Amino acid sequence: MDKFIIGSSPPFLGIELNTGCNLRCPMCPQSRGPTHTVEAGEAHSTVASMEMIKNIVVQCVDTKEIWLSTGGEPLLVPQLPEIIRLIKEVNPRISVGFNTNAALLTERRSIALVEAGLDAIRVSFDGLFPLGHLAGGLSPMKFFANISTLNNVKQQLGSHKPILQFAFVAARDSIDGLLDTLEMANSLDARRFGIVPFWPLDASQNEQNIFRYKERARETFQKAQSLADRLGIELVFGFVSPDMDQSLKSCDYPFRFMVVKLNGDAYVCCNEYPIKGNVNEQPIAEIWNSKEVLMLRKRLATNDLPEYCLTCKIIRPSNELVESASPAPSTAVNPLSVERLPNAPKPSWGTIARHTTKVVLDKLNLLQPVMRLRGKA
Ligand SMILES: C[S@@+](CC[C@H](N)C(=O)[O-])C[C@H]1O[C@@H](n2cnc3c(N)ncnc32)[C@H](O)[C@@H]1O
Ligand code: SF4
Repeated sequence: MDKFIIGSSPPFLGIELNTGCNLRCPMCPQSRGPTHTVEAGEAHSTVASMEMIKNIVVQCVDTKEIWLSTGGEPLLVPQLPEIIRLIKEVNPRISVGFNTNAALLTERRSIALVEAGLDAIRVSFDGLFPLGHLAGGLSPMKFFANISTLNNVKQQLGSHKPILQFAFVAARDSIDGLLDTLEMANSLDARRFGIVPFWPLDASQNEQNIFRYKERARETFQKAQSLADRLGIELVFGFVSPDMDQSLKSCDYPFRFMVVKLNGDAYVCCNEYPIKGNVNEQPIAEIWNSKEVLMLRKRLATNDLPEYCLTCKIIRPSNELVESASPAPSTAVNPLSVERLPNAPKPSWGTIARHTTKVVLDKLNLLQPVMRLRGKA
C-alpha cells in the first residue's frame, strides 16, 4: 500500500471560497441554490474563513497548484486578492488561479489581482448556448471590455500574469460557436482553451447533451484543434475526448486532486466519492493518505472499480441524466426553485443570437489595446 502514498499534500488543490454568484446560468447548480448573492460586496455569509484558508495553505508543502473556485463566483469574495497574496507568500512556487464569469472584473479588481500575484484566470464563455452565461445575465460586451481592461492593466504593470484561459461548455446549441469563441479567445491573448461537455441538471436538459450529437461534435472538435494549432492556443478537453469515445476510462483524480468545501469537508474526487475528511479536524496529510484513500487508489490502479466510480462521467463518459441513477452535482437542488434575475435576458435563441461572439468582435472596437499588447497593430 505504501506505493500509494503520494507526498503529504495533493498536487492540485481546489478550495471552495463561496457558493454565491452574481449570475444565474440555467445550466449551473449555483443558479438553483438558496445561497445566491447578487451584488458584489454584499454581505456574504457563505465565504470560507481566512483562518481555514491559512491553515490549509501552510500544509500545502507538496502542492503545485491551488484553484480558488469550485462552485460560486470568486470575484464576489472581497478577500480574494488577500487570499492569493497569502498563498504566494507562504509558497511562491504554488500556481494560483480561478474560474470566473468576468462580469465583476473591474479595473480596480484587475489591479489588485495582478499585484497579488495571480498566475491564471479562466474565463467562461459558451457563445450561443441558451442555458449558458449570456442567458444567466452576462453581457458579452462587458465580458470583452473587462478582459481587455485586465490586459491593459497587465501591460501597465509590466506583468505577463495572470495567463488568460477560456472555459467553454460544449452542448448542442453551443458548439456551432466554438470556432468563433476560439478566435475571440485568441484576440484577447488567451493561451489555453478548455472544453467540457455540458452536464444536464435534470432530464429536461438532456436534449443539450453533446453525447447525443457525436458526429457533429467530432467534426467541430477536429476543426477547433486545427484552428487552435494555427493560433498557438493549447486546447484542453476535460471529461470528453475529441473523438467522443465512450468506452470505459481510468481516473487519476485520487492520485493528484483534492477539493475542500466551505465547511472544511475534503474529497479526493470531483464526484465526491464518499470518503471524506475535514481540514478543520485533521491534518491534510492524514486525509490525503488515509487508509480509505490508499485503498481507492489501489482499486483504481488495478482496475477493480468501486461501484460508485461506475456512475461517474470520467469512467463512463456519458452525460445523459437518468433521474434515479445519476451522480448529480451535490449542490443541485430542486429544479423548480429556479428564479431569474429581473434584468437577465430571457434565454431565448433570439436574445442570445443578437449577442453572438461575432457581434462583439465586429461591432466593438475593443481589440486595439490587445493587438498593441501582442505587437500586431
Ligand atoms: C460553476 S462555475 C464557477 C466559476 C464562475 N462563476 C464561472 O462561471 O466561470 C465553473 C465552471 O463550470 C461550468 N459549468 C456550469 N454549469 C455547468 C454544467 N451544467 N455542465 C458543464 N459545465 C458547467 C461553467 O461554465 C464554469 O466554467
Ligand atoms: S456558471 Fe458561473 S456564472 Fe453561471 S451561475 Fe454558475 S457559478 Fe454563476
